[in-house]
This record gives sequence, C-alpha cells and structure tokens, in this order.
Amino acid sequence: MNPATLILGLVGLGLLGLFLYWQLIIAEGTYLGPRIVVLLYDWSARVYERIKQYDTGDEQWFLGLPLVRALEVIPAPLVLDVATGTGRLPRALMRQPGFRGRVIGLDLSRRMLRQAVERTVQFADRLTYIWQDARRLPFDDDTFDAVTCLEALEFTPNPREILRELVRVLRPGGVLVVTNRVGRDAKLLPGRVFPRDQFKQVLGEFPLEGAKVRPWQVDYDLAWAIKSGLPHGGSIRPLPEILRCPVCSGHLDPSAQDGAQGFRCTGCHQVYPVAEDGVIEMARR
Ligand SMILES: C[S@@+](CC[C@H](N)C(=O)[O-])C[C@H]1O[C@@H](n2cnc3c(N)ncnc32)[C@H](O)[C@@H]1O
Repeated sequence: MNPATLILGLVGLGLLGLFLYWQLIIAEGTYLGPRIVVLLYDWSARVYERIKQYDTGDEQWFLGLPLVRALEVIPAPLVLDVATGTGRLPRALMRQPGFRGRVIGLDLSRRMLRQAVERTVQFADRLTYIWQDARRLPFDDDTFDAVTCLEALEFTPNPREILRELVRVLRPGGVLVVTNRVGRDAKLLPGRVFPRDQFKQVLGEFPLEGAKVRPWQVDYDLAWAIKSGLPHGGSIRPLPEILRCPVCSGHLDPSAQDGAQGFRCTGCHQVYPVAEDGVIEMARR
C-alpha cells in the first residue's frame, strides 16, 4: 500500500476513535439522543456503582443530612428524585434517622431502576420507582416538598426544559436540589451544561428564590433553591392523587387487569403496568 494512503487511513481511524470517545464516553451519548443515553446506562447499570464508588459517609453528610434539615418542618415530606439511577439519593435520605417521608425515583433506564430497587429493598415501603422520561414528569403541578436531580441534566437534549419540569412539580416553598457539570469535560459538552458563573442566573429564569450554587464534586456544582410563592400543601399524598398521564395529563386510577396491577388514565385510557419488581412502567408504550 502507498505510504501516504496508509498514513491517511491511520489519521482517519485516529480521528474516528477520538470522535467516538467524545460521543460515547465523555458525552455519554447525549448528542445522539435519549435512546442512546439510555442504552449506554442500561449496558453499564450493573457496574455503575463500582465505577462511581460513592462513599456512604460523604453521601450522608453532603446530601442526606442537609436535605433532611431543609425539610425538617414537614413531618412526612414527599420527595421526587429525577434521573435517580441506582437509587443514590433515595438511599442517602432513607438512611437519615430523621427522615419519615416518601421518595419517588424516576429514570429512563429500566436496568438502572432494577439496580435501584435491589439496592433499596430495605426501604421499599416508603419508595416508588417510575420508568419514565424526565422531559414529561407524570405529576400534577406544585406536588413535591423537594425535587432533586443529580448528575443528569447534561445527558438530556434540553437541560432548561428539564429544569422547567422540575420546578413545575415542586410546590411553592419546596426545595430544589440540582447539579450542573463543571470541570475539564464540561467544555466538551456545549449546549448541555451551563457556564459555572451563569448557573445561578439561569435558575433566576424560573420562579425560584434564595438560590445558592456551591462547588460539590470535582465535576459538579450543586445548587439549592426554594420555589417562590405562598407555601402550601406538603407531606405524603396517595399516588393516584398526584400521578398524571404523561400522554394527556389525565388522572390515573389504580387498575387490575387479568390479575396484573397498574394505573389506567381516565382521559386517554392508556394503561401503565406495575412490574413484578414494583416499578411503574410508564415508558412502556
Ligand atoms: C450519571 S447518572 C446519575 C444517577 C443518579 N442521579 C446519581 O447521582 O447517581 C444519569 C442518569 O440519568 C438518567 N437519564 C438520562 N436521560 C434521562 C431522561 N431523559 N429521563 C430520565 N432519566 C434520564 C440515566 O438513565 C442515568 O440513570
């Protein structure tokens, strides 16, 4: 083979390798769409926690405890963790002796949720997991005492759209906890992360007050904010009261068809099954 052709071929292969490394490893498929993001998380669900190596003490100190303190005036708070993954936030909260509330964890990767179920089995009576896209949160407005979304905004096509949804389902006076990717790799995620010095300003575009953005981990800043408005509601509410159909926003009634549990939309009659492991499968449509 002609040496020039060989060199060109090798350069081409090298560039392709770099491109794939960027798209699949650093960006985790975010520019290829939610299907690819979810496929990658489905593939890595079993090893995710081994890669992350969460330290139980740090998780308690920096996540569980501050959140429980922020919610201490509510006897039994209702918390939504969006993009819950393997149940990191539910675990941090449930391990806090002062937490008497309920957590709903939502994710679009079914295998991450399976891991979450297994890793939080001892708290199952106060946990619900939902398989659904964060772009369409299946809940009524002003529902939750706290809404959290950790290490996930950058993997969605439009992080502002997700922020809007998080704030919509948070009740006035409720607590929002959300991360923004920073650090070296953030430069390689244009359009998916907010510039570090502008994140607080971005949060100001929503009905939020008292926003604080603090460095958290090497790759993330953590923001805390309160939803504006006259505080009302609060505490655990039954699922049929707060669940909404992600297709038509109709109310959902518990249903049992041929012995299988689920929820049926009173508007479009779509049925959302509850799987054997207890996960409400809204993304199965
Ligand atoms: C880096 S993990 C973070 C998981 C967890 N919050 C944590 O801190 O360990 C990102 C998670 O976002 C989820 N995710 C990505 N896009 C999503 C979407 N559109 N809707 C819901 N979850 C999504 C992935 O499935 C994955 O579980």
